[in-house]
Amino acid sequence: MDFLTDPFLVSADKFDGPVLVTGAGGCIGAWVCAILSRSGVSVIASDLKPSPDRAALIIGDQAASALDWVALDVTDAAAVSNLVTSRKVRAIIHLAGLQVPFCAANPALGARVNVEGTINILEAARANNIKRTTFASSVAALCFPAGGPYKETLYGAYKVANEQTAFVYWADWQVPTIGMRPNVVYGIARDQGMSSKTTTIIQAAAMGKAYDIPFTGPYSWLYAGEAAAAFIAAISEDGEGAHMFDMNGRCETVESSLEVVRGLDDSMQISASGSQFPFPPDLDESPLRAHLADYPTVSLQQGIEDTWRAFKQLQDAGRIPPLPE
Ligand SMILES: NC(=O)c1ccc[n+]([C@@H]2O[C@H](COP(=O)([O-])OP(=O)(O)OC[C@H]3O[C@@H](n4cnc5c(N)ncnc54)[C@H](O)[C@@H]3O)[C@@H](O)[C@H]2O)c1
Repeated sequence: MDFLTDPFLVSADKFDGPVLVTGAGGCIGAWVCAILSRSGVSVIASDLKPSPDRAALIIGDQAASALDWVALDVTDAAAVSNLVTSRKVRAIIHLAGLQVPFCAANPALGARVNVEGTINILEAARANNIKRTTFASSVAALCFPAGGPYKETLYGAYKVANEQTAFVYWADWQVPTIGMRPNVVYGIARDQGMSSKTTTIIQAAAMGKAYDIPFTGPYSWLYAGEAAAAFIAAISEDGEGAHMFDMNGRCETVESSLEVVRGLDDSMQISASGSQFPFPPDLDESPLRAHLADYPTVSLQQGIEDTWRAFKQLQDAGRIPPLPE
């Protein structure tokens, strides 16, 4: 399904050595690795438990299994440091993390992975003089101070800690970083976390199953390929400073977005109910776009259509994953 990654391919000349991706088995990580490998960039796909399953949904079983998979627990400082040094890593895309429900279920583990894990990455960048490091914060970091209109979460609190830590690593040790706060990512391979329902409903529609999405009102639609392209653009040249940017994608109500889905096949049994999603839906991403080299913008129509088409093809091939709960 090359149509998924074709719009995001980059020139391999921009990269001067291996790119380490953490959380490569996750949704955004799978997209990043798929795009980098198809672009001919040397990429080390690391994860706690390396699995090509999500990448396989994007680039097929063979290409996904052929990625350079490495088991790496980001909470293990020595392992992170050894890998970065021994493999002469030149850039890091740090995506490993536990999402909202997992941090709520095990707060201490959430802090170890999300906070300590990010410190281990920054330490490795510092020790190896790496000038190209990007990491994922989240829109959830913007839900503070507590008591505002949006839902505070432990996950968001840990992401705030990541952002502040990155600033100190630049101020005290000149470790450059670009942190990004993706809003709600959707697309092939997005199958977990409280905001994954917009992908689930497209999958349900492609499978001919009825589905009700439990949110209404304005919502962020950030296509997974576009988010991955932004992380790749962030390490395509040496950085300076500790930057934080919002990354929103398109803002559209859930109700009118479902019209786009219905436009693909009007026999679909899909609906929306409930209240507004508890995170801000419309962040300004123009500072991010002004700072980074160009990367593609995917319209809501295109992103939904490509996702639906890919789910259809996976279903026809008998490879569609089970519909998430
Ligand atoms: N998907 C979104 O909408 C969204 C929005 C905002 C921010 N983010 C952030 O972007 C990053 C990637 O998101 P995603 O949707 O791909 O998440 P995901 O949950 O699909 O993937 C996260 C990956 O991290 C790995 N991981 C967990 N613990 C680890 C550990 N100790 N060591 C190494 N790897 C570990 C998991 O195995 C998983 O493959 C995360 O940091 C997430 O918080 C995602």
